[in-house]
Amino acid sequence: MDPIDQLDLQKLPRHIAIIMDGNGRWARKRLLNRIHGHREGAKSVRAIVTTCRKLNIPYLTLYAFSKENWRRPAQEVNALWDLLLEYIDSQLPEMLEKGIKLNTIGDKEGLPPRVIDALDVAKEKTRNNNDMVVNLAVNYGGRQEIISAIKKIIHSVLENEIDTEDITMDLFSAYLFTKGQPDPDLLIRTSGEFRISNFLLWQLAYTEIYVTPILWPDFREKELIDALRDYQRRERRFGRTSDQLHSHSNNDPAS
Ligand code: FPP
Repeated sequence: MDPIDQLDLQKLPRHIAIIMDGNGRWARKRLLNRIHGHREGAKSVRAIVTTCRKLNIPYLTLYAFSKENWRRPAQEVNALWDLLLEYIDSQLPEMLEKGIKLNTIGDKEGLPPRVIDALDVAKEKTRNNNDMVVNLAVNYGGRQEIISAIKKIIHSVLENEIDTEDITMDLFSAYLFTKGQPDPDLLIRTSGEFRISNFLLWQLAYTEIYVTPILWPDFREKELIDALRDYQRRERRFGRTSDQLHSHSNNDPAS
């Protein structure tokens, strides 16, 4: 039986966010250089994008490079950029063929020009794809995103484009990188750490969190399906009681 058949296709998350952790540990366990771990991790990225597309999951957000990752040795940082460029280069045809739009979240400023260029080209080429959005979080930090939204909102108020009274949760969301996208329903973190690590701090307010000890390079289709099965066993209450949920069909946190 195809493991996908174990899933309830009507109850899949619309948006999955992933903290891809454990590449270094995967390599160390094999006495390999950390960069081998990242290379193997890039293969997991390919596998997970392909499976999510197959399952018709419309949004996938991957934490590829955090603001804090600049603290790593320059050689490792450069290897991560090389892998990102290699990934874009090799996956662009599949993205075009399968209707996948590439989007980035995070600050362009500070990225090497070759990375900015490659990301811009891929975003432009996939701009009209509407079947799935892959958000790559690159030079991303959740607190930084919130501060930048606040600055933009203050600017809009000072320019009389909005009134202070107009500032609602929906308006705030529209000033984030994920503008127009649903918040993640499911956050997956590999390699066993129970931390958010400055990822999507605003957007994860009601997200179900799944932590697995599996290291990212070992996280492929089967492991994603296990995470989805776990998610499907959860009851998302959004502050309501269980009884209320069973007599109420609306699952939306905002209502
Ligand atoms: C964490 O492993 C992973 C990262 C810092 C970045 C994720 C990068 C990739 C999956 C490779 C390329 C990305 C794309 C989008 C193709 P770690 O090094 O923190 O692992 P450790 O905690 O075991 O040391």
